[in-house]
Amino acid sequence: LNNGLARTPQMGWNSWNFFACNINETLIKETADALVSTGLAALGYRYVNIDDCWSAPLRNLQGQLVPDPKTFPSGIKALADYVHGKGLKLGIYSDAGIFTCQVRPGSLFHENDDANLFASWGVDYLKYDNCFNLGIKPEKRYPPMRDALNSTGRTIFYSLCEWGVDDPALWAGTVGNSWRTTEDINDTWASMTTIADINDKWASYAGPGGWNDPDMLEVGNGGMTYHEYRSHFSIWALMKAPLLVGCDVRNMTAETKEILTNGEVIAVNQDPLGVQGRKVHVDGCREVWAGPLTGKRVVVALWNRCPEAVNITANWEFLELTPATTVSIRDLWKHENVSGNAATSFSAEVHSHDCKMYIFTPVASAHSSSQ
Ligand code: GLA
Repeated sequence: LNNGLARTPQMGWNSWNFFACNINETLIKETADALVSTGLAALGYRYVNIDDCWSAPLRNLQGQLVPDPKTFPSGIKALADYVHGKGLKLGIYSDAGIFTCQVRPGSLFHENDDANLFASWGVDYLKYDNCFNLGIKPEKRYPPMRDALNSTGRTIFYSLCEWGVDDPALWAGTVGNSWRTTEDINDTWASMTTIADINDKWASYAGPGGWNDPDMLEVGNGGMTYHEYRSHFSIWALMKAPLLVGCDVRNMTAETKEILTNGEVIAVNQDPLGVQGRKVHVDGCREVWAGPLTGKRVVVALWNRCPEAVNITANWEFLELTPATTVSIRDLWKHENVSGNAATSFSAEVHSHDCKMYIFTPVASAHSSSQ
């Protein structure tokens, strides 16, 4: 969507994966505090997104949405002010149906009123879900909220949560800043790998202004191993997925923090070229994922889905690198350069369910540098 936002994938936090409906204004404030104190905010995690369950069960007599008076007694405007005071942005959630998935009021047929209300509160981001949609096509239900947000005069990020049911990659480029391509993620290796593969199919439709969304991060929620979470984060970054942290950032382990604060991996996600990397080679449970970056660099992930450690090889023919291009190699998890250059292929031993991630940078040859 050409609204000036999402030139690179959005980064931030969302309440749903860890807290579900157990949310309140104190939690949101403490999360904003923690994003700053942990250094996540400085790395680009800027959106603090409230998911479902912030709203009271009914609209008021004027037909407006009302924050749940028990959990958000100070209202959303006060929360937006607090979050803005930390240099962060506030996101909210509604639904392109008559109810949200947790049966709070939806915004279908209330698009203008709700968009104006969100703008008056100082909201910066809307996640727009797909429950209770009366069977009306998403292509009909999502554009009215785009237009309503646009008419508010406030710049608001528009995140479509249509779960990939009507192939949103094919039509949402002019509707939203990102569109979910899959059903909900859960905190398991099986879910994460399945979702990565579905999202991969839509790679060619992503770019600055509009991104495929394979759902929010589960890193730090306990259902996967350290190596599995490292794979999850590496592949989401390479796929130019939104990096929306889904754990309790007030209580992260050192390992969770190490993964989420890897600035070299984040830089891949935020590379201005904005091309979604893809699965470029499969050999049983050995996978190579790769994509182009600015400066003729290439990001390469060696992803081991096998139950044991294996050696995985990236050949230049998988990488769209001219044959015999000499590259220097940076290891983004070890934070060091791999010694020696490579010119036809590169191999490494990878732990079970782990992912190694590199940037290959072409080295100027004697010939080309003398020109
Ligand atoms: C749907 C969405 C989730 C979350 C829940 C909230 O399942 O896909 O991301 O927003 O609704 O109810």
